Amino acid sequence: MSAKILSGTETAKTIREELKQEIAELKEKHNIVPGLVTILVGEDPASEVYVGAKERTSKNLGIYSERYDMPADTSEEDLLALVDKCNKNDKLNGILVQLPLPKHINEANILYAIDPDKDVDGFHPVNIGKMMLGEKCFLPCTPHGMLEILKRNNIETSGKEVVVLGRSNIVGKPIANLMLQKREGGNATVTLCHTRTKDTAFHTKRADILIAAVGVPKMVTADMVKDGVVILDVGVNRIGKTAEGKSILAGDVDFEAVKEKASAITPVPGGIGPMTITMLMMNTVQAAKAAAGLL
Ligand SMILES: NC(=O)c1ccc[n+]([C@@H]2O[C@H](COP(=O)([O-])OP(=O)(O)OC[C@H]3O[C@@H](n4cnc5c(N)ncnc54)[C@H](OP(=O)(O)O)[C@@H]3O)[C@@H](O)[C@H]2O)c1
Repeated sequence: MSAKILSGTETAKTIREELKQEIAELKEKHNIVPGLVTILVGEDPASEVYVGAKERTSKNLGIYSERYDMPADTSEEDLLALVDKCNKNDKLNGILVQLPLPKHINEANILYAIDPDKDVDGFHPVNIGKMMLGEKCFLPCTPHGMLEILKRNNIETSGKEVVVLGRSNIVGKPIANLMLQKREGGNATVTLCHTRTKDTAFHTKRADILIAAVGVPKMVTADMVKDGVVILDVGVNRIGKTAEGKSILAGDVDFEAVKEKASAITPVPGGIGPMTITMLMMNTVQAAKAAAGLL
């Protein structure tokens, strides 16, 4: 068997077309333009790439976009003041502070200062709490993207054994939680593995759906999965450079070997990554509609 490739690039393209249309209609019918601000502190090259992609995508879709590039020695106080200014700016429906922040800034202080109604990254405790309770809220973008890619490929989750590798606050914990919610796209039996898990392969071999978010290149090998498994590979690992100096990326799954056993698998790159940015745009449109009383 060779797996169906779950292309995040293609799925994201479809969703972006839908969003573009929705944004045009919001303008035409209600004179609403969703607005997103991206805030980058310091000069981390990967962060610059991510912020650039977010800014470009929002502009392409017709989202009003602002960007702040702050020096690495920006104080926590100054960053809080900027967040406060953005909270009060009615043109901005979404605020994205790119992580990681420089060490001298307390990330939680910044993320908690964002108005939960503008927290399009879905990292504020209010949104995380609502997510856990199964209430309407902004879902964190990477797990949200995973739900969408499963839904749009008609992959059933109800009653399935879902095994998640990795327990980060932005990927592992939220996707595990979303998968066990009592609603469509959830209803799975979920196992969450981490570095203290005694026998990870014991769990992965039982998985109907395996989600890898560990940041360890090609950790999941073919002997760790069962035939027909669906794999969502979140890992983005830079494993070298091409002759032209471009990064060579690998996921957390040994794609070439595992795709021969899986029924469906996301590639790296072109899998979960493009979905993550697209969900940020979707959340921004939702925020604009909510602010205008349209939800
Ligand atoms: N495509 C996207 O949009 C996207 C978005 C976010 C992240 N990512 C990528 O996803 C990967 C994970 O990132 P993250 O931020 O979620 O995680 P993270 O904060 O880097 O944490 C990694 C998690 O994996 C667990 N882990 C590490 N080695 C393990 C092993 N050998 N066996 C079992 N568990 C192990 C750790 O366990 P402990 O808790 O015990 O330490 C931790 O919970 C990275 O490659 C990152 O670049 C991609």
